[in-house]
Amino acid sequence: MLVLGIETTCDETAAAVVRRNASGQGDILSNIVHSQHDDHRAFGGVVPEIAARAHVEILDDVIRRAMAEAGVNFTQLDGIAAAAGPGLIGGVIVGLTTAKALSLVTGKPLLAVNHLEAHALTIRITHRLGFPYLLLLASGGHTQIISVEDVGRYRYIGGTVDDAIGEAFDKTAKMLGLPYPGGPEVERYAMNGDPGRFTLPRPMIGRPEPNFSLSGLKTAMRMEAARSAPLTDETVADLCASFQAAIVDVIVDRIRVALGMLRNSAWKPRALVVAGGVGANRTIRGALSAIANEAATPLMLPPPELCTDNGAMIAWAGIERLSRNMIDGLDVSPQARWPLSQTAAA
Ligand code: KG4
Ligand code: ZN
Repeated sequence: MLVLGIETTCDETAAAVVRRNASGQGDILSNIVHSQHDDHRAFGGVVPEIAARAHVEILDDVIRRAMAEAGVNFTQLDGIAAAAGPGLIGGVIVGLTTAKALSLVTGKPLLAVNHLEAHALTIRITHRLGFPYLLLLASGGHTQIISVEDVGRYRYIGGTVDDAIGEAFDKTAKMLGLPYPGGPEVERYAMNGDPGRFTLPRPMIGRPEPNFSLSGLKTAMRMEAARSAPLTDETVADLCASFQAAIVDVIVDRIRVALGMLRNSAWKPRALVVAGGVGANRTIRGALSAIANEAATPLMLPPPELCTDNGAMIAWAGIERLSRNMIDGLDVSPQARWPLSQTAAA
């Protein structure tokens, strides 16, 4: 099964061709990601109108490159997948409309993929893993703990009541004068910083439901940064390290609670899995490895380039859906909001 995947929900214009191999995982034949970071950097975050225009300008070329690098033509494809939401609606319309046009012209089935579902299933590209598994989905727009019970069957276990974890990284970076996207910058500075220099709150730790709240941590960071102004490189590093340490403590505690909730249930997870851009953070990956060990649950991590937004995860979710005959009509609508729980199994 060979599928083209198109991703345009945020500030990455991406296309990829993925084939399911004999052992049931995915061979990524091409994975072109054009990051618009340069277009948005001056604004310290993604500007929806700029993103939509950039997708229009570059998507055709990104798809052409993905097809050429994979060495396949459209007649060889079994399906055409695009992220149909959730995300910035202008970008979603560009990607989904392009996929509809390709589907119409080639006669290949259209697969309208939920971007969150694509993150949730990414691990199955590279790992042989059956359902159920426990997923920490942590990106710029989303922070959720989900029990992945089948394709199209996702149970919400907990999530953030305010900011997403990636958003907290991005806002921290912005207040410290570091460029967008902030996650990798904060991680880089944190490597040389003292995580014990600033005492920051660990919101929600100890609560029985595995939820997150990050706005209080953000406010505390803002106050510490203001108190330490003007900021030296050393102070920025210490602030980044202290922030990252607080986030890590919160994640570990919240995942421990979630694993505990499911331990004796029919949905005991076969593995702990991470997805979304924050999953690329090495300190967070290390902390999750410790918690998985403690719970005697395998930890499975996609390679960092499959954690951040990409077309391969959309193509793969398309393959998973196509193999279950979950095909969409050309009348399917793009959706700015689209909770995973509403991604029906049939
Ligand atoms: O999944 P993703 O590429 O896009 C969304 O769907 O949001 O995630 C992007 C987010 C950004 O907030 C970015 O700062 C964060 O993931 N991120 C990181 C790291 N790399 C990306 N956060 C922490 N550490 C990183 N190394
Ligand atoms: Zn994403």
